[in-house]
Amino acid sequence: MKAAWITAPRAGDLSISVGDTDAPVPTEGQILVDVETVGLTFSEPTWATNGSLPLPDGSMRPLPVIIGHEFAGRVARVGSATSGFAVGDRVFGLIDFWRNGAAAEQANVLPGEITHVPSAVSSLDACTLPIGALTAWQALFDFAHLKKGETVLIHGGAGAVGTFAIQLAKDAGARVIATARGQAATALCHALGAEHAIDTSAERFEDVAGQVDVIFDTVGHELLERSWSFLQRGGRLVTISGEAEDAPSPERAAALGIEAHWFIVEPNPKQLDQIVKKVEEGRIVVQIDRCYPLSDAHKAFVEAENRARQGKTILVVREPRAQSSAINRP
Ligand SMILES: NC(=O)c1ccc[n+]([C@@H]2O[C@H](COP(=O)([O-])OP(=O)(O)OC[C@H]3O[C@@H](n4cnc5c(N)ncnc54)[C@H](OP(=O)(O)O)[C@@H]3O)[C@@H](O)[C@H]2O)c1
Repeated sequence: MKAAWITAPRAGDLSISVGDTDAPVPTEGQILVDVETVGLTFSEPTWATNGSLPLPDGSMRPLPVIIGHEFAGRVARVGSATSGFAVGDRVFGLIDFWRNGAAAEQANVLPGEITHVPSAVSSLDACTLPIGALTAWQALFDFAHLKKGETVLIHGGAGAVGTFAIQLAKDAGARVIATARGQAATALCHALGAEHAIDTSAERFEDVAGQVDVIFDTVGHELLERSWSFLQRGGRLVTISGEAEDAPSPERAAALGIEAHWFIVEPNPKQLDQIVKKVEEGRIVVQIDRCYPLSDAHKAFVEAENRARQGKTILVVREPRAQSSAINRP
């Protein structure tokens, strides 16, 4: 089968190859999926190979690693020890990061990683949710415990995770402020529901944002560093940027009287069901930046490094059947 994989730890050139490899054979506890669409996370070539996501026994993941861990597709075969899924079912989900991803004609998944795609939701939209939206959901609700009426500042509001974070926070009754870079990106944040969208290339969020209860950071670096002192006592800071070793220091958080968390998104079909229902009902829309065929996986990564992106980039493995709700697709 055709697949896209990382061939070497990233050092200089991007080492993503597309070629032929053996199709996976499901064990009795696994489900084989004919993949239709795959969401890309552009930091994957780094974190897949730098030891930050090791195998369960702590050793490095052996290379090559098939990329793209969020996907949508159809069930092709079910292992004898699985239940709840039948051949032909439309499914989407998040394959655990230490296994091969889904940028391939077929992928092996576990029943606890997937759920069904409602008929009104396209595979293009569905494949963006298991990392893009689920990360935002877990950050806002599992870690920050964002509540109705609170104010959240979202750094990187025009990104793949940020576009969902704005909408999920707004849908939960929170007041949303977002940071982004450039006029097109701030306009998108406004369109998705941010009350204020701050262009960090022109102004400092500290001068505009006012008091906030929660900061959700998807950018890191200086924006994250400045966020610590911006939160008042009792505030909650959640970041997904960087690696485990960059995780916020509990001592620093305690000294400031705030909560601070870093986490890695985990598969959660029940949360995905709630998220995809919101897509089905039109309460959140999927923002797709670009779509590439699987054969252009390397090009997708190279181009992404040289342009501003708004929302998610997708690899199309096979042509999906339904339409998408995306609002800004080229
Ligand atoms: N821990 C986890 O579970 C988890 C899950 C998903 C993602 N992540 C990580 O989270 C980060 C975001 O992921 P993503 O998929 O959303 O990436 P993305 O689509 O590239 O989004 C990042 C967004 O941040 C914006 N940005 C960068 N610098 C900025 C600044 N100074 N001010 C305002 N906005 C700025 C980018 O704008 P430009 O286009 O202008 O650069 C882009 O819109 C990545 O580092 C990714 O690895 C972690």
